[in-house]
Amino acid sequence: MSLFRKKSLDALMAQAADTEKGLKRTLGAWSLIALGIGAIIGAGLFVRTAAAAGEHAGSAVTISFIVAALGCCFAGLCYAEFASMIPIAGSAYTYAYTTMGELVAWIIGWALVLEYALGAATVSISWSEYLNKLLAVFGTKVPFEWSHSPFERTLDAAGVMHHGIINIPALIILALLSLLLMKGTEESATVNSVIVVVKVSIVLVFIAIGWQYINPANHTPYVIPADAPPAQMRDGTLYSYSNFFRHGWGGILSGAGIVFFAFIGFDAVSTAAQEAKNPARDMPRGILGSLAICTILYVLFSWVLTGVAPYTDFVKSGKEASVAYAIDTYMHGYHWLSTLVTVAILAGFSSVILVMLLGQSRVFYTMATDGLLPKVFCELHPKWRTPYKSNMILFLFVGVFAGFIPESVAGNLTSIGTLFAFILVSIGVIILRKADPNRQRPFRTPLVPIVPILGVLVCAAMIIGLDTATQLTALVWMLIGLLIYFGYSKNNSKLKA
Ligand code: ALA
Repeated sequence: MSLFRKKSLDALMAQAADTEKGLKRTLGAWSLIALGIGAIIGAGLFVRTAAAAGEHAGSAVTISFIVAALGCCFAGLCYAEFASMIPIAGSAYTYAYTTMGELVAWIIGWALVLEYALGAATVSISWSEYLNKLLAVFGTKVPFEWSHSPFERTLDAAGVMHHGIINIPALIILALLSLLLMKGTEESATVNSVIVVVKVSIVLVFIAIGWQYINPANHTPYVIPADAPPAQMRDGTLYSYSNFFRHGWGGILSGAGIVFFAFIGFDAVSTAAQEAKNPARDMPRGILGSLAICTILYVLFSWVLTGVAPYTDFVKSGKEASVAYAIDTYMHGYHWLSTLVTVAILAGFSSVILVMLLGQSRVFYTMATDGLLPKVFCELHPKWRTPYKSNMILFLFVGVFAGFIPESVAGNLTSIGTLFAFILVSIGVIILRKADPNRQRPFRTPLVPIVPILGVLVCAAMIIGLDTATQLTALVWMLIGLLIYFGYSKNNSKLKA
């Protein structure tokens, strides 16, 4: 049946061998781990930790991080099996094409748009917020109207309500990075490593200094109680914790769905499989190593952040630029650190956005090569050898989200798309073990089918923990995807015999 036609694994390997001519195998395990961390640490940690703590989990956001890390670990083990076995770009989309057929591959590719395109939009919105923090040091700022979506509003100190119109700084950073990508300025392993060192250092410095400012009262009670008094939001209205997903274990699960965003990017390591020196050995190390390091940093970071500032602060003023807020408000004498953190975070966000935009254009490139998307997405610039038209179209697409919707909406959609891809990759491992048991697997996911099944369950639980609006929007997104598949892709597929 044509909906389930598959790309043969042997054909894929031949394709990989072909493209190998153009790609140098330069990345060792450490470079891959650095690549992972470069793509992982970003808005999830520096923005969403506070949102998850303030609105759902309180100090127990540390447990939310552990739940999210568990889901990622199970899925990461499945990714590691595929990435070591099929060392070719395209990631989850490619794995699905060989295991579950074209329709599912399309669905994953479509879900990956949510991950990468909306991920880039989300981080650019956070970039805009931190830019304003930096500008404030120089006594200026981009007015609320021009740095927020029309869905946001705030009460200023004089009691005047401001409504957002468009997020201009987010559009500017997206435009600049899209231009870089078009020009072919690739994030070299060295540049990425420098950003990673800066990012990790800032996290460590914040943990070390902030530790001394932890107020134990802020950690008590550790989990938000059902009868917690409402917190004040920045538009002056009250935020109630009575809903099942806003306190206790429900809140922790919902928090996990939100901070899950902080782990997104480890799968981007798998897209560099063709540039790895020894993919069989180093892919699993890159994927699982970057995940492990980030998990430890995240738990310590969130422990300190919610210890320094009470979680209710993050419903209001400290929401986006939470680290700078916590330092300025509670760690007196460390204003310089807040400025330094802000600059480092801006640099860090830029590398995340770059990798996301790059990942998106790679997935579209592969899908267009397979005939599932129009050729324009795989047309290369004659001189720069980059899919420049795709980059331009993507800028417009991502720009609409970055300019006009709030961070939380874009971020949750990113998470749901990624979780969905993780679920399908986990199922893919089970299917390929049955369909092609004898193929060489340099890395084997342990305890199959238990680990993949746990991956499916934890990721599905996090999807359920996300808000209904996000779930419905993702559903509509998928329906649009199916319309495009049946209207265009199915008939233009290269596999159409
Ligand atoms: N994990 C990346 C971030 O948190 C997407 O910004």
